[in-house]
Amino acid sequence: IWVGATAYPLKFNYKKFAEIADEVGAYLAADIAHVAGLIVGGAHPSPVPYVHIVTTTTHKTLRGPRGAMIMVTNKGLKKDPELGDKVNKAVFPGLQGGPHDNTTAGIALALFEAAQPSFKKYAAQIVKNSGVLAKTLMDGGLKLVGGGSENHLLLVNLTNVLGAGSGVFAQKALDLVGLTLNKNTVPDETSSPFYPSGVRLGPPASTSRGMKEKEMKFIGSVILEVIDLLKSYRLPEKKEERKAYITKFEKEIRANKKMKEIHLRVKKLALRFPIP
Ligand SMILES: Cc1ncc(COP(=O)(O)O)c(C=O)c1O
Repeated sequence: IWVGATAYPLKFNYKKFAEIADEVGAYLAADIAHVAGLIVGGAHPSPVPYVHIVTTTTHKTLRGPRGAMIMVTNKGLKKDPELGDKVNKAVFPGLQGGPHDNTTAGIALALFEAAQPSFKKYAAQIVKNSGVLAKTLMDGGLKLVGGGSENHLLLVNLTNVLGAGSGVFAQKALDLVGLTLNKNTVPDETSSPFYPSGVRLGPPASTSRGMKEKEMKFIGSVILEVIDLLKSYRLPEKKEERKAYITKFEKEIRANKKMKEIHLRVKKLALRFPIP
């Protein structure tokens, strides 16, 4: 049984998953790719006491280079003392060839950074920032999957404001004003993975730049302003009409005066918080 996700805004209840797995004698693995940095920083519960295996990427909230790690817990070794060896052998020679030593060194540095007291503060600030951003968006009438954010991630369902399949409009328009996020499916998606009805965003990168609650309120208000400008657009129901419609949308939104003005405001903020 695997527990982990790529667009989940709430805390995982690893204990509950362990109860289910233990009841049927299953192995339980936690994919903590998204929340690894929060777990190390003490801002999200750890799966280690509850699962047999932990996997993670190293380039999300852990803030390292693109890579990954697989760890076997004490609980895992108790279930099968050879589990660690089996995983090692499955990786090499089973799946991988030569190591990328440069990446391994980068991961070591990221883990060193994550072990510093400043990283604890960073993780806590990410969660605070996410909460403020979530509240700002919800106060402005947007629907958040899960009713808010308890971690580093927000998933906005745009169906009520821009219709089904509208994530593409929000992604493209926000990109133009300097805010990077991605379109994403939402629970009970009525559109398709290519034209999903939501967007996924989060503050880990802006928090690394030193942004706090005040800046999150600003960013949230900008998102609301931009989405308000998109209200007349709807994804065409006929698939063959979509490409041309989106091209026209991009042209119009690029020429929009208000968009240009918002972009300048975002740029001003970004310049105040340079990438460290
Ligand atoms: C939960 C989760 N696990 C694993 C991965 C795998 O990452 P990658 O495709 O970079 O190997 C991702 C990627 O975004 C993820 O969200």
